[in-house]
Amino acid sequence: MPIVLLVGCGQETIDPEKAAESDALTRPVARFEFQSASDNASGGASGAVSSGNRTGEEIYKSICATCHATGVADAPKTGDAAAWAPRIATGHDALVQSVINGKGAMAPRGGANDLTDTEARRGVAWLANQAGAQFTEPPVE
Ligand code: HEC
Repeated sequence: MPIVLLVGCGQETIDPEKAAESDALTRPVARFEFQSASDNASGGASGAVSSGNRTGEEIYKSICATCHATGVADAPKTGDAAAWAPRIATGHDALVQSVINGKGAMAPRGGANDLTDTEARRGVAWLANQAGAQFTEPPVE
């Protein structure tokens, strides 16, 4: 009688986002500070956009998605209209202030020290607009 061995079934890949999420659940009061992708890019790598000139979408992808894409530490998820509605109702200015000053587990400027005030405004517009807001993103000059 043949014996069939299934090799390799014990290997599980670890999803870093899930790992971060479960880490967040076990330490709910921790304040997260991730190194933003822009910190690495500031060395002048070709194609890198310098601080101050990033669009809302670029800011979101390099800084904000870390938490908002999956809802780390109860961050309102990108595109979740129900989670965003009460926050959107406070207005663009109030939300920009929350990002600049930090709120709950969100560090000031989302932990990215090189994020300018105008960039915070762009990032908030892009992020909130995914969930139904109609904020105006200041143009990149
Ligand atoms: C370290 C994780 C993290 C990062 C990075 C992060 N956020 Fe947040 N954000 C949160 C959490 C958690 C909350 C919920 C805070 C609360 O209400 O206690 C939040 C809330 C917000 C809110 C709602 C604020 C309010 O007044 O209700 C806005 C707007 C926001 N984030 C925008 C951004 C933008 C724009 C970026 C990128 C520049 C960003 N966040 C980066 C975790 C993060």
